[in-house]
Amino acid sequence: MKCRKCDRPAVFNMRQHKLALCEVHYPEWFVAQAERAIEKYHMFGPDERVLVAVSGGKDSLALWDVLLKLGYRADGLYIDLGIDDGTGYSAASREKVEQFAARRTKARFTVVDVKAEYGETLPEVARRVRRGRGKPCSVCGLIKRHVMNRVTRDGGYDALATGHNLDDEVAVLFGNVLHWQTGYIARQAPVLPASDEGLARKVKPFCRLYEREMAAYTLITGIDYIYDECPYAVGATSLRHKGVLNRMEEESPGTKLQFYLSFLRARKAWFFCEQAEAVELHPCTNCGQATSVPGLCAFCRLWERV
Ligand code: AMP
Ligand code: FES
Ligand code: ZN
Ligand code: ZN
Repeated sequence: MKCRKCDRPAVFNMRQHKLALCEVHYPEWFVAQAERAIEKYHMFGPDERVLVAVSGGKDSLALWDVLLKLGYRADGLYIDLGIDDGTGYSAASREKVEQFAARRTKARFTVVDVKAEYGETLPEVARRVRRGRGKPCSVCGLIKRHVMNRVTRDGGYDALATGHNLDDEVAVLFGNVLHWQTGYIARQAPVLPASDEGLARKVKPFCRLYEREMAAYTLITGIDYIYDECPYAVGATSLRHKGVLNRMEEESPGTKLQFYLSFLRARKAWFFCEQAEAVELHPCTNCGQATSVPGLCAFCRLWERV
């Protein structure tokens, strides 16, 4: 198969776009897609400062790479959760972030070591609190959201960018639709604006790009990342939903993208407007971040007894 744009052999074929490209034109296409999403959804402008949450995985390192290539002012944030369990997951992923940054002069980043700052690693907190029993992921999500928001705000960044790709977004949407969790559905978007209560603007420049496309980009451009999934992700519902969606995509290429884009159109038409009505937020009495119940926020309650 030949590249659509030149005579070189195609290295990557995207059935859902009926497009095959070579090793030069594929990365170009990929970067242009991200740039288009940034502009289309008004994620951030060239003069704004962006904080990229980098996990050491392919999506977030690809995102950081693309934003730097496009000339955006993008710094990294790595949250060290202290996940060890014999595989040294956190240490290994942190190393990937450090290696990535060492090769690029403009890639500056902050590390937040959860144990050093708050007293316990994620597995330790998850064992101690009821919320975490058997499911560290829920506590992990809470910690990551809090830390990301804090660093974005304290560092004076205009937006927080995460590496969520189309497969991630579609799996979450699918799960929420299965249970008709309309409140969550209403709050799923490529951009969440900053709120008066101190929540930072959140953006997902890769929300329209397939996981396969991310993998191809990192492979072709030589970005080294951590292949392992977090050990706690095994058996996660979102992974099962991804499996179902992959089978549908296999039979009918483009299913995921259509599902997501149709959702965004429905959302734009205020299909979920009642659900989108803001819940009342209060500042946490300890950290000041917005919380729905007056008093301590869920994050600060985690550490009350440490
Ligand atoms: P996940 O929740 O693992 O699916 O990751 C979703 C996004 O959150 C990634 O693409 C990153 O942008 C960000 N992220 C996940 N883990 C970390 C981490 N340990 N430090 C910084 N950002 C992270
Ligand atoms: Fe948070 Fe796995 S990365 S529990
Ligand atoms: Zn080509
Ligand atoms: Zn708090």
